[in-house]
Amino acid sequence: KTDPLIIFTPSGKRGHFPVGTPILDAARELGVYVESVCGGRGICGRCQVAPEFGHFAKHKIESKADAVSDWTAKEARYTDKRGDLPEGRRLSCSATIQGPLVVDIPADTVVNQQTIRKAVDTRDIHRNPAIQMCYVEVEEPDMHKPLGDLDRLKLQLEEEWGFADLLVDQQVMPQVQKILRKGDWAVTAAIHQDLETSRPTLVALYPGLKNEAYGIACDIGSTTIAMHLSSLLSGRTLASAGTSNPQIRFGEDVMSRVSYVMMNPDGQEAMTKAVRKAVNDLIGQVCADADIDREDILDSVFVGNPIMHHLFLGIDPTELGGAPFALAVSGAVHTWATEIGLEMNAGTRVYIIPCIAGHVGADAAAATLSEAPHKGEGLSLMVDVGTNAEIVLGSKAHTLACSSPTGPAFEGAEISCGQRAAPGAIERVRIDPVTLEPRIRVIGAEMWSDEEGFEEAVAGTGITGICGSGIIEVIAEMYLAGIIDEDGVISSSGTARNPRIFEDKRTFSYKLWETASGPDITITQTDVRAIQMAKAALYAGVKLLMEKLDTTTVDRISLAGAFGTFIDPKHALVLGLIPDCEVENVSAVGNAAGTGARMALLNRDHRREIEETVRNIEKIETALEPKFQEHFVNAMAFPNKVEKFPKLEQ
Ligand code: FES
Repeated sequence: KTDPLIIFTPSGKRGHFPVGTPILDAARELGVYVESVCGGRGICGRCQVAPEFGHFAKHKIESKADAVSDWTAKEARYTDKRGDLPEGRRLSCSATIQGPLVVDIPADTVVNQQTIRKAVDTRDIHRNPAIQMCYVEVEEPDMHKPLGDLDRLKLQLEEEWGFADLLVDQQVMPQVQKILRKGDWAVTAAIHQDLETSRPTLVALYPGLKNEAYGIACDIGSTTIAMHLSSLLSGRTLASAGTSNPQIRFGEDVMSRVSYVMMNPDGQEAMTKAVRKAVNDLIGQVCADADIDREDILDSVFVGNPIMHHLFLGIDPTELGGAPFALAVSGAVHTWATEIGLEMNAGTRVYIIPCIAGHVGADAAAATLSEAPHKGEGLSLMVDVGTNAEIVLGSKAHTLACSSPTGPAFEGAEISCGQRAAPGAIERVRIDPVTLEPRIRVIGAEMWSDEEGFEEAVAGTGITGICGSGIIEVIAEMYLAGIIDEDGVISSSGTARNPRIFEDKRTFSYKLWETASGPDITITQTDVRAIQMAKAALYAGVKLLMEKLDTTTVDRISLAGAFGTFIDPKHALVLGLIPDCEVENVSAVGNAAGTGARMALLNRDHRREIEETVRNIEKIETALEPKFQEHFVNAMAFPNKVEKFPKLEQ
């Protein structure tokens, strides 16, 4: 006889469980989020669910009133102490399965209602955070047993939660007596334990029941800083925000920031201060968005490229400016928020994912954690493109990483009409191969230029330039339309053919768009060259890794970062930006570094996983590889001088 079927709504997750299984256990096993602070002791009330009864034809299940156990002693104790549950609700840690059952997870159980609106990323991350919230009721002081208040609290935490040998953060000690009395001897302890082998530490203490704890995951990019605020109890992302990296005023790309440090005695300090202030401001923003107090943030994870990583930690990045690109620290960093000037709870810890190499940072490691090229059977390529492309290629058997100096062309810099991706920027382009007439899409206007209403849609911002994804598309389309040849030359023969191609200081340009007020948007020969150099650098790096693995194709390609999100895989293949691969196996994975950081925030096992993976990745230094130059030269051509793209041609 099979165990009864249980179905959770709204997720639809289902499974069979033996009679007597607490509903919470079934939910956990199926990966359905249900919160709990009291560890299933029937104290916190966070684990409420609503069993539903009736004939659910859609689910082919009859859920009867006796399919769930009668009111339990734990539930009776809970309602005695804390008041009635809303109608139809049960405590899932106490109510058990007695028969086939449909259970609804009410939205307020999953996460506070007011904070749900900004949930951005719904990827299920199995939770095992470094912070655990533990409710206990402590014995009152007794003249005959002169044990300190803190010591009795520790005893209780050991007895109920199994934390032996607990350390206590210094900043907690002066508050213990007040908090115990304020909570009438009931308190919630926030216990931090990252490494399985390290001693657990009491980092914060709250009177009564504290039903929430939050964490932030932050990706410090040279251009943008992105942050997610997550509930450590539900795993949900409650708010996300981004801001430009204020270090831009010291230098547009990472290398110019290193030069700034070398040339200015207080340069490093100024940049460290600037980035920490931006991070503090972002913390303020995500907390305001989710309507929570920054004091309730108890854990944090940061990632960044090596130079951002060093500057954030207050380390002089000069050594990273030249060979052998020595990192001051490559392994994971554990520190305190207060130590690096971050404004959260005084007990908040900071975990920084390890860097892979002098050019391949913690951001690439985090993206690796998220995309898991090191776990697959087939060969996966992951590229994260910024001013440096970070490249990871591998499978379960062996994983390699390198970086390649693509320069800022892919971000729209160094392009005559280039601009950052912002409203008014051309992001998509199609060129008719016969008439050479373009169609465009502009950020902020949700339509193509030949659709009705386009003029009005762009009236507010105007058409101001072309962003990274637009430049890739326009050059791929120019190549497909025969405006540029394999060597990237805008051919003079075009002038006779079409007035959009015109002579411009001894070379030729393509007029992409006439704007109403500003100058025309044109693609010059120099623009095409800049993209050729960038894509050749990227491809040469990829090719180097492929050669090391003795392969000519890859099974899967993930394009990470803002750049990857907006480029069309087909255009990337047409230009020979990435190696030949089935188009449907090329995917844009968005901010993979941010997702990896969130994984490390919500589950400390992921921290161990990436630490081990980084140790095992073989690091290739492109600058030292004699074949890099040869690959680079071949990759200057569209799509490539020597490589074939049979899968694309199909
Ligand atoms: Fe706390 Fe059920 S888990 S009441």
